[in-house]
Amino acid sequence: MPSSLPGTLRVLIPASRIRKRVRELARSISRDFQGQEITLLCVLKGSFVFLADLVRELPGLVHIDFLAVSSYGSGVRPSGPIRLVKDVASSLRGRKVLVVEDVVDTGRTVAFLRRHLARKGARAVRICALLDKPSVRSVPISLDYVGFRIPDRFVVGYGLDVAERYRNLPYLAVFHRKNSAKADRPN
Ligand code: IMP
Ligand code: MG
Repeated sequence: MPSSLPGTLRVLIPASRIRKRVRELARSISRDFQGQEITLLCVLKGSFVFLADLVRELPGLVHIDFLAVSSYGSGVRPSGPIRLVKDVASSLRGRKVLVVEDVVDTGRTVAFLRRHLARKGARAVRICALLDKPSVRSVPISLDYVGFRIPDRFVVGYGLDVAERYRNLPYLAVFHRKNSAKADRPN
């Protein structure tokens, strides 16, 4: 991968709006799970910043675990089978799990995770996504908590990357690849 990635960034959601929305999501989550112990499951890598902010707004007992998935394919969207790159470290049997995801696009990742977590014996699975792009859904899935509904644009920052860049931006931005009318999808 070349070190320079020609493209431009346009702020989509500033840090202050993200902060406010994460607090609101945390309030809804703690209301729904009142006093119950939950496992927050961070889908690596894109969700690590979101998880870190969310967990600090949640009172009570939470377990944290991580998994990573990847998908391969040749089209503009990943179209190959979804593969588990790293599984959780703890047992999920009988646990209430809240999946913390960065972006839901086609919905294939969330559908895969639901099947995987059911096999692991999770008692209940809820999904919390920072971003939802409902216009590109190809698999019907339901989301329990959504930060922002956004149009079909390629977004970076606040944990999200393009070719491993921009994860450290404190805000969300649309990435436009140079010489491309629409932003590209690398993963
Ligand atoms: P899905 O399986 O098509 O729903 O894709 C979800 C995954 O694709 C996300 O977890 C991200 O890793 C990646 N993805 C989708 N859209 C974007 C984006 O705009 N920026 C960065 N990653 C994205
Ligand atoms: Mg993700």
